[in-house]
Amino acid sequence: MKGIILAGGTATRLFPLTATPSKQLLPIYDRQMIFYPLNTLIKAGIKDILIIVAPDHSGQFLNLLGSIFEKYGIRLAFKVQKIPKGLADAFILGEDFIDQDSVTMILGDNIFEDDFSEQIKNFKSGGHVFARKVPDPERSGVVQFDNQNRVIKIEEKPKKWISDYAITGLYIYDNKVVEAAKNVKPSERGEIEITSLHNYYLKLGELEVSTFEGVWLDAGTFDSLLEANKIVKEKEIYKNFDPKIDEAIKKFNEELKVITKKGLL
Ligand code: G1P
Repeated sequence: MKGIILAGGTATRLFPLTATPSKQLLPIYDRQMIFYPLNTLIKAGIKDILIIVAPDHSGQFLNLLGSIFEKYGIRLAFKVQKIPKGLADAFILGEDFIDQDSVTMILGDNIFEDDFSEQIKNFKSGGHVFARKVPDPERSGVVQFDNQNRVIKIEEKPKKWISDYAITGLYIYDNKVVEAAKNVKPSERGEIEITSLHNYYLKLGELEVSTFEGVWLDAGTFDSLLEANKIVKEKEIYKNFDPKIDEAIKKFNEELKVITKKGLL
């Protein structure tokens, strides 16, 4: 199983906060946002992770993450996405990296309270995505179930209400996803939508949709960023990290202190 974190884009909704740093490097309580999706993947034992970033931010990601996980056998790779084209583009950009394997993709601004290790470790084939009840489904990809919890349909940002279940930013797919992504036609908003991939697997009868109830946050606006900080603190989500991540951050901070001290002398 490979891992991909999609952390590209220009995050215009967060200007001027994102005029210089990447959105995914903004703070969520005591650490940068990117550590939260990284934690979801690392906790599940994924050792090869590709981080897709925007051209202006590649140096920032490399400085922070470039070498902190080496000693744990976790290999991070980086790829620049010149223009954001839609979430499905992650699998096209990641083709060589994914190689013959399956892949778990997570959005760089999605924070999950739940641990998805078991679902990721037990994944065999097809697609597995995760839905959660939300008050504003029109902002997301939405899944409609019948009364036996079978999926009827999945729509990207439906204008007419079909269900309250949003498909969140964590996706497990088998290797077919690379070719499937190449065949996705751009939507009205000009993006190659991840929803088209869910529908590809749904048609094959190979899509599993699980629901969960834990906290799910996406931190793409001023309010949701503030909310994410508050909830992470209140629910102590920052305490649920894989010890390897806590240790790596601590070591990075100590090294930073030494460098800063030397600079001051
Ligand atoms: C994207 C996807 C959508 C998904 C959401 C999760 O929306 O297109 O299907 O529900 O992420 O955060 P976007 O952030 O591009 O509006």
